[in-house]
Amino acid sequence: MSGWPLDPFGKAVSARGEARLAHPADTPLTRIAVFGGIYSNHRALQAAIEDARDRGAQAILCLGDLGAFGPSPDRTVEILRNEGIPVVRGNYDDSIARGLEDCQCGYTDPRDNHYARISYEYTLANTSPRHREWMTGFPYRIRFRLGELDVLAFHGSPRRMNEFLWETTTPSHFLEGMATQEGADVLLGTHTGIHWSRALDGGRWYVNAGALGRPANDGRQEVWYTMLEVDPAGDGRSLSADFIPVSYPVDLLADEMRDEGLPEEFIETIRTGWWTTCLEVLPGKERARGQW
Ligand SMILES: [Fe+2]
Repeated sequence: MSGWPLDPFGKAVSARGEARLAHPADTPLTRIAVFGGIYSNHRALQAAIEDARDRGAQAILCLGDLGAFGPSPDRTVEILRNEGIPVVRGNYDDSIARGLEDCQCGYTDPRDNHYARISYEYTLANTSPRHREWMTGFPYRIRFRLGELDVLAFHGSPRRMNEFLWETTTPSHFLEGMATQEGADVLLGTHTGIHWSRALDGGRWYVNAGALGRPANDGRQEVWYTMLEVDPAGDGRSLSADFIPVSYPVDLLADEMRDEGLPEEFIETIRTGWWTTCLEVLPGKERARGQW
């Protein structure tokens, strides 16, 4: 399943930082599980892999941001590497790989910056050099065929790794223009932490896979991944994008976070399902759905 060979990034990455998802020519890809930001939540990652396998996913793709709020960043990386899951470069991975000063999230609010700094510095200090080296090979974009659809996967947007595409502030014509420019039927991203999708003109789609690492600011403990599927019996162009809730042992993750001295605010979020930090970037309408 997830062990399908990806073109080795070193050879397949183009000058635009784009790789192709390879799969056997005689086995068309019609069902793929897509994971958004993992944020060092290795327990949710493990649960989601098992869930995707149970649901018959032919492959798994991760859209980046392996580190952040959770404990023991190396655990997440080791699971992904052992499973052979390809990863699109997220802003976090780019910063960790290159040893940058911050996560490139662009916060200006002092409180958000304070917590962003804690999680970034923790991730940087606790990601082993060999895993940082691995991250330097992450492509900015991964393109693949799903049925007869051309899917372009990226982290923030096709043009910028750390661009936030929110449901209530992103017009359809903007997405349609990007899909045309990229020659893609499906634009597939993450970065915002909240999943959503929209049908575009010409049978095209934008899908935000949300985040696997923390709840969607909805008061639920479950986290989310996305199953993309094309009916193999149909014309190969009819997409379904299902958002799948994942339960995992929240208490065990909270214990690990506490043992490692991570802030109570991060623990509160995984326990309550409400974001306590990094709220500044939320547009008004998304923020109004939350508790804070
Ligand atoms: Fe991100």
